Amino acid sequence: MKRSCTTIEDIHLRLVYSKEEIAVAVQRLADEISNAYAGRTLLLVIVLKGAFFFAADLARRLKLPIEIDFVELASYCGTETTGRVKIEKDIRTDIAGKDVLVIEDIIDTGITLDFLLRHLAQRGPQSLKVCTLIDKRGRRRIDIAADYAGIICDRGFLAGYGLDLNERCRELESIYEVADLSPCGGLNGNSM
Ligand code: IMP
Ligand code: MG
Repeated sequence: MKRSCTTIEDIHLRLVYSKEEIAVAVQRLADEISNAYAGRTLLLVIVLKGAFFFAADLARRLKLPIEIDFVELASYCGTETTGRVKIEKDIRTDIAGKDVLVIEDIIDTGITLDFLLRHLAQRGPQSLKVCTLIDKRGRRRIDIAADYAGIICDRGFLAGYGLDLNERCRELESIYEVADLSPCGGLNGNSM
């Protein structure tokens, strides 16, 4: 497939996953999860903001009764993690005794996911698993794995389909590699 480049204002982007490739990965995940949880009700804990397009597409393809809640975490400054995770918005659902599946956009160092899983595990879910659209396995700083991963990738910083570069590019339908990275602090914001 032809890999094109594009520029959004001053951000240079190289296409790495087209919307068609993303749709194939999302459908495969939906099939796997639907089979694994057949006969059960699943609570999706969607990690804002990056996972919201992915979660919306995935949730509508699951052949299961589902509930949905959201958590918002922050730790990134520009394209680098600060290593400190904080909860901007917690879930409101009582997850005790429920089958919980965390929906992430991307796992990089693993620091965010490790923090979130510890936080949720304290509340006594029946099961607690993770589904991520993108798994940057080669960059882990914490030994942690997703139970369901759509795309394994070791490229640089990605943007589009929910993933942002300091709040920009989330609305793009495909996923791009940011070709020229600005230093931390060059753009505003730190949300995930
Ligand atoms: P980690 O804590 O390093 O694993 O990073 C987790 C979070 O950082 C992800 O959920 C994303 O929100 C954000 N993140 C990590 N890598 C990227 C990237 O390449 N593009 C956009 N966001 C990213
Ligand atoms: Mg995220």
